[in-house]
Amino acid sequence: MSQTIYVNEKTGADSTEVKGTEQQPFATPAYALYTFPEAKVLVYKQSEEDQDKFEYVEISASALKKAKKGVEGLKKKAEKQAKLEEQKKQQETTAKLSELDLSSIEEDKSLPEAKRIKLRAVPQNLDSRVLVQGWVHRLRVQKGLAFVTLRDGTGYLQCVLTGDLAKARQTQELTIESTVAIKGVISKLPEGKTAPGGVELKADFYQVVAFAPSGDDSFTNRIQENADPNLLLDQRHLALRGETLSSVMKVRAAYSAAIRRFYAEEGLTEVTPPCMVQNQVEGGSTLFKLDYYGEEAYLTQSSQLYLETCLPALGDVYCIQESFRAEKSHTRRHLSEYTHIEAELVFITFEDLLQHLEKLLTKTVQYVLEDPIAGPIVKQLNPDFQPPKAPFRRMEYIEALDWLNEHGIPNEDGEKFKFGDDIAEAAERKMTDTINEPILLTRFPVEIKSFYMQKCQDDPRVTESVDVLMPNVGEITGGSMRIDDHDELVAAIKRENLDLDSYYWFTDVRKYGGAPHGGYGIGLERQLAYMLNRFTVRDCSLYPRFTGRCKP
Ligand code: 4AD
Repeated sequence: MSQTIYVNEKTGADSTEVKGTEQQPFATPAYALYTFPEAKVLVYKQSEEDQDKFEYVEISASALKKAKKGVEGLKKKAEKQAKLEEQKKQQETTAKLSELDLSSIEEDKSLPEAKRIKLRAVPQNLDSRVLVQGWVHRLRVQKGLAFVTLRDGTGYLQCVLTGDLAKARQTQELTIESTVAIKGVISKLPEGKTAPGGVELKADFYQVVAFAPSGDDSFTNRIQENADPNLLLDQRHLALRGETLSSVMKVRAAYSAAIRRFYAEEGLTEVTPPCMVQNQVEGGSTLFKLDYYGEEAYLTQSSQLYLETCLPALGDVYCIQESFRAEKSHTRRHLSEYTHIEAELVFITFEDLLQHLEKLLTKTVQYVLEDPIAGPIVKQLNPDFQPPKAPFRRMEYIEALDWLNEHGIPNEDGEKFKFGDDIAEAAERKMTDTINEPILLTRFPVEIKSFYMQKCQDDPRVTESVDVLMPNVGEITGGSMRIDDHDELVAAIKRENLDLDSYYWFTDVRKYGGAPHGGYGIGLERQLAYMLNRFTVRDCSLYPRFTGRCKP
């Protein structure tokens, strides 16, 4: 039942203090309805039966209509009043703040000149005056004191502003992601206080280089923690500034450096094959087609064939190049564009290839863990990480089928695995996660592997092929020995219904001095997802591309 409100034109009052009860009535029906829109309104009136008598009666329809109109007017008046009050408040704040304009704060010229440093050099620059420049990563402004956590991409530093610097208008108006230049002295923090690196800069002067927006467009509104991953990907350019993503990118750089160091130690030469090509390597279904001046061309799936052509010219070679796959599969380990680390080694056996892979995967991880920047990040993001130890567990494809069947893991048709079945992602993952150590899975059947793979001499049904499987991701590397006989390769190309003529440059590798050789490709994002325990390879790519996402 709706509330009953009393209106008495003679004794009532229209005010927020009045309750609208019989003892405290309002003066007008409009104000009563403005305060209690749903209420039943009773007005104090002369009784129709007894002229001498006054009583409360329900408001008439016409009076109610009039009162409702009045409510609209009251609403408008209230809005106008609120606006005026807000303006007045803002004027007062601006007036108060302008008294403290930082531009009036002068740098103390008697202080020693500040040395400009990057934040990575903080430990070497304690107790002397420095200039640091960067972005406001975190901010806490109190009365007479402000804490700015500065970020410059090489590290973080807590800076403290006191006195006029803290009270200044620019400090009061400072926002997350504004750029600042701060001068002062960095010193070790006393016991019990914490900040990045256990140090703090006491500022004696600072300037705002550029303000970032506040309010609706503020950084924290654009990038909200736990937001939908797709929304965060739209804001990838800003999300990259976050601690986790930027850390992953640092390890990515360190891993690329570790790979190059390993290859230099092993005597491989780096080359840069083209990305725009006219031959497929890994099957037509994942080709990205493009119109190349009227000719059909593709974005490369793998640089392997080009690397093979380099062997007679340069010996063992490698490249770190983007590969492209029009993957229909929307999984946590598939990208449309990924960074492919590929190498090709000549005059080797299959066993040499396997040992090379073990050495590469153990050494490169070791180099990253020893790196002063990347090492601690791996420990922080993946505290339980166990560096791989050689020799890795070896398992032939046939043994894997037995393992899967024994553990009740079915094939893609929900049946027991049989020779020739592809071990799809889900099954492969279950096996790898259960075994929980690196696996060299070898000797896959000819029919489920690429046309260029060398057959095993003791069993021509299978190939000298290997997938390296790592816990949490599964396959991170695929490699094999290559067919080195010209005619056998030609037959394989024909079997795949590929245009033989367009592969002349690839078959020529065998025509002009064939040699036993093999190689592999490592998906950099998968290797990182493994090392850093990331849920998906998308988290390990700067601007990931996958089905439905090619921006920003
Ligand atoms: O097994 P793949 O297809 O092998 C090749 O392309 C060979 N031609 C490489 C060679 O021998 N030079 O791919 C090799 C690796 C995979 O193990 C995986 O780590 C990665 O490349 N990879 C992908 N990573 C992310 N997204 C995708 N769609 C990927 N496809 C392959």
